[in-house]
Amino acid sequence: MERTDAGRLSEPTDNYQGLYASPCQTCRVTALDAVSIITAKRDGGELSDAQIDWVIDGFTNGRVADEQMAALAMAIVLRGMTRRETARWTAAMIGSGRRMDFTDLPRPTVDKHSTGGVGDKITLPLAPLVAACGAAVPQLSGRGLGHTGGTLDKLESIPGWRADVSVSRMREILADPGIGGVICAAGADLAPADKRLYALRDVTGTVESIPLIASSIMSKKIAEGTAALVLDVKVGSGAFLKTFDGARELARAMVELGTDAGVRTVALLTAMDTPLGRTAGNALEVAESVEVLAGGGPADVVELTLALAREMVALAGLDVDPAKALADGRAMDHWRAMVRAQGGDPDAPLPRARHTEIVRAEQDGVLTRLDAMPVGIAAWRLGAGRARQGDPVQAGAGVEIHVRPGDSVVAGQPLFTLHTDTPEAFSGASDALRSAAVLESDATVPPAALILDRIEA
Ligand code: URA
Repeated sequence: MERTDAGRLSEPTDNYQGLYASPCQTCRVTALDAVSIITAKRDGGELSDAQIDWVIDGFTNGRVADEQMAALAMAIVLRGMTRRETARWTAAMIGSGRRMDFTDLPRPTVDKHSTGGVGDKITLPLAPLVAACGAAVPQLSGRGLGHTGGTLDKLESIPGWRADVSVSRMREILADPGIGGVICAAGADLAPADKRLYALRDVTGTVESIPLIASSIMSKKIAEGTAALVLDVKVGSGAFLKTFDGARELARAMVELGTDAGVRTVALLTAMDTPLGRTAGNALEVAESVEVLAGGGPADVVELTLALAREMVALAGLDVDPAKALADGRAMDHWRAMVRAQGGDPDAPLPRARHTEIVRAEQDGVLTRLDAMPVGIAAWRLGAGRARQGDPVQAGAGVEIHVRPGDSVVAGQPLFTLHTDTPEAFSGASDALRSAAVLESDATVPPAALILDRIEA
């Protein structure tokens, strides 16, 4: 057995049976009360469909207390769940709310989900690009917590733009061939069991479990009503999962869940050791995304946007080259229409932070490493992210990155520009960045692959 970064024991297996340290010999226990279900899982048992349905329903309706659900979540972190249990858990969370249905739209639906990384603004150019290729893109997104930013926080830096869109308005936007994409907040009735459970896991040390993460993400994506889904599973220092094996296991679990639920699902494993692009922050990332839509932008952001777009377009059954739709301005037209459809002004200047400070290189050398995690922490400390749900974020705050791995740098050269409305945040952000840029003399840096693997059913 090996210990993975998900913090529990696993064997190389394509289901979760290998997680049982001492498998229960009387699996499929069936008692329907919270304590029996917790102890069954604690002792390595496999929960029945009825037990899973009962506990998720009880938790949603307040019959199962938070402390009981937290104990069960910890038992699952330690004991795992089989593929069948995970699929049933996911279905029960979807069933706790409303499942949206866009099957009557005149265009095929397809969405993307990223597990989150530093500077990951890909949804912003990707959704209008795929809409420009003829698909409908219903994307329910979240706000950021901790070092990775949230797509809604980024878009909310556009003057007038609103994240709340009713289901009927969503349907109108998706059906409109001149728009075709909507990025908005999930309603309270979308997998409400997951909303409560994720908040509880966040404060009880029970996030790090592949079946719980996979079912949490996929319950929301399946409930959203998309017919096809491309997953961008990040791996590396700035990602949720630090190891390739852990990321691949999560990707496989999510592809299985999607496929079993009738959603055509593919996952790309992509590198997140270095921030994506040249910015981490809200308005800063919107500006960079608009550069990509205008035919420019950083090479890595363009490469990943096109790779994900090709997967999405193929899953949607469309025979269109996304590179052409980007180059000829159709993606930009859809971006502008999408922003307007949600109350935003695509021509309004984006907010800028009131204060900036430059972090300079202290020595000459070749940049051998640009670590995503400290850049994400610096952006967060500058005000781009939040420490607790509901905290406000600063639209203009963040980090501009002036160097890439492989660049030769001289002492005094700008490495980063910090942006914030609260200048007292500069010292904490600079402290975080001290370990971000590694300079070595006479080093050569081989080009690093951005797309590491592809997983399909
Ligand atoms: N994102 C989610 O939506 N759920 C998890 O469990 C982890 C990340």
